[in-house]
Amino acid sequence: MQDLAALIRAVPDFPTPGVMFRDVTPLLADAGGFARSIDALAEPWQGSGVQAVCGIEARGFIFGAALAQKLHAGFVPLRKPGKLPPPVVTVDYQLEYGSDRLEAQRGALKLGERVLLVDDVLATGGTLAAARALVEQLGGELVGASVVIELVALHGRDRWLGSQQLHSLLRY
Ligand code: PRP
Ligand code: HPA
Repeated sequence: MQDLAALIRAVPDFPTPGVMFRDVTPLLADAGGFARSIDALAEPWQGSGVQAVCGIEARGFIFGAALAQKLHAGFVPLRKPGKLPPPVVTVDYQLEYGSDRLEAQRGALKLGERVLLVDDVLATGGTLAAARALVEQLGGELVGASVVIELVALHGRDRWLGSQQLHSLLRY
């Protein structure tokens, strides 16, 4: 995983002073690195019968779509508000300051469909918890979640309630 870590750029004071932003764009731009990241994301789930990958806007779409192909699963986008045509299901969640919302198309999952959640970064865990609630509202059966980067100091994993596995490739 060290070769992947070398493709993540640390950007101090972005988007606000004091934040060390982990930028995945160099990894995406590297053909071998991108392919290896998808292989590594897929590895824990091979043979687990994942039928749909739900990717979280925006960077979760990039990894999620490639991962869906790798796992021979469909791809379902979980989007920021106002992007999907109705009817949609909605989950509101708290950010450090204020709130945000994720939406999915009603009927996007079949009842009991086996779902893997994917995002680029796990920070405070609010986004992934909301995505999980959305999958439950849609009637999917959550198999687990994968992220490329886990920011351990923000304890997002503590908000991942339930027995399903949460995998991360790189931890900072
Ligand atoms: C980032 C990241 C995750 C989320 C993690 O998305 O891609 O989706 O934050 O944060 P959390 O664990 O504290 O909820 P962002 O909102 O920056 O959106 P983007 O992918 O559209 O840039
Ligand atoms: N990188 C990318 N996305 C993020 C980060 C980060 O460090 N923190 C919260 N979302």
